[in-house]
Amino acid sequence: MNPTVLNVALGQRSYPIWIGCGLLDQSDWLDPYVPGRRVAAVSNETVAPLYLARLTALLEGAGKKVIPVVLPDGEQFKNWETLNQIFDGLLGHNCERSTPILALGGGVVGDMTGFAAACYQRGAPFIQVPTTLLAQVDSSVGGKTAINHPLGKNMIGAFHQPKLVLADLDTLDTLPDQELRAGLAEVIKYGLIRDLPFLAWLEAHMAGLLARDKSLLAEAVRRSCENKAEVVARDEREGGERALLNLGHTFGHAIEAGMGYGVWLHGEAVAAGTMMAVDLSYQLGWLSQADVARVEALLTQAGLPVRGPAAMTADQYLPLMRHDKKVQDGHLRLVLLQGLGHGVVSDQATPEQILAAIRSRSDH
Ligand code: NAD
Ligand code: GLY
Repeated sequence: MNPTVLNVALGQRSYPIWIGCGLLDQSDWLDPYVPGRRVAAVSNETVAPLYLARLTALLEGAGKKVIPVVLPDGEQFKNWETLNQIFDGLLGHNCERSTPILALGGGVVGDMTGFAAACYQRGAPFIQVPTTLLAQVDSSVGGKTAINHPLGKNMIGAFHQPKLVLADLDTLDTLPDQELRAGLAEVIKYGLIRDLPFLAWLEAHMAGLLARDKSLLAEAVRRSCENKAEVVARDEREGGERALLNLGHTFGHAIEAGMGYGVWLHGEAVAAGTMMAVDLSYQLGWLSQADVARVEALLTQAGLPVRGPAAMTADQYLPLMRHDKKVQDGHLRLVLLQGLGHGVVSDQATPEQILAAIRSRSDH
């Protein structure tokens, strides 16, 4: 399977996304992105034993010296303390402003490494090598980088675009099923907000995706990245359209913060949050009952939750949802659907309607 190369068109900050198999073993991509002698590689204690040696061998084979930084694994470590471990590694090895920093891992490693690169000596080049489905279809593309705060998810961060995204589909072979399913939540999102034919394609191929058919996974990653690249190219800093990529996220982030980071996976929280947004869209008369059932059936087929966690009460959500980057003048704005395939950012729902949608998907 030849790699597919997409482009994120951002003028001088444009970059390619390589999608394919065996990319960690071939050095075709390397030259323009690692021009000097040294490169830092940030990973975590789960991914490093699986893939860091291979990547290091490839880089060393090309005459590069690799500076490894291995972080603890987990959303609960997406914080200042862990970020500092990256700076300790970079400074401890005298990395320069031009030393590329490579992120090898899922969205947590990618978001933290990107933020470290944005800050290190006021901005160092970085490369995303995403190894989860979620990171390959979403987090590695678009330059959003962040850490969490106990009061809110991804609340501290920066926009800092990578120079290259290298999505090796073979890394998904070792991904646990639960993580694969979590990634599918973000894939389904693109169908719901802007790509109805893709939604139908996902309905037709969900079983094959769950069975890890490589050509289907390649197609899902390609179509997701195409959608994301188009949105990011039009609205890099989320002045408008990019907010649509947050379907289900305001509810989902409340679940992640409310349960404690890492208890529910990001994709799982997004799936339950998507159903809350879909219920709310139905309440507003924008979706039919058949639309609601269609979304619920697809998320269920993907093995994702369609209700919030039993341990959270509906009343817990709204205070947490106020720590959201879409809040303007104290007003909550949510991504809703005016028909399947058509996302909108809306402040039309009242707090009572929002609460009713949360209640419809909560046990208490
Ligand atoms: P993650 O990074 O925690 O990875 C999930 C788990 O899989 C981890 O335990 C990880 O060590 C392990 N893992 C990674 N690759 C593996 C592999 N190939 N084989 C075996 N295990 C592997 O989680 P995620 O779902 O990749 O990312 C979620 C994070 O991404 C959240 O923090 C979320 O906020 C963020 N995110 C960011 C953006 C963005 O635009 N920047 C978009 C969506 C999500
Ligand atoms: N995942 C949301 C965004 O990149 O904007």
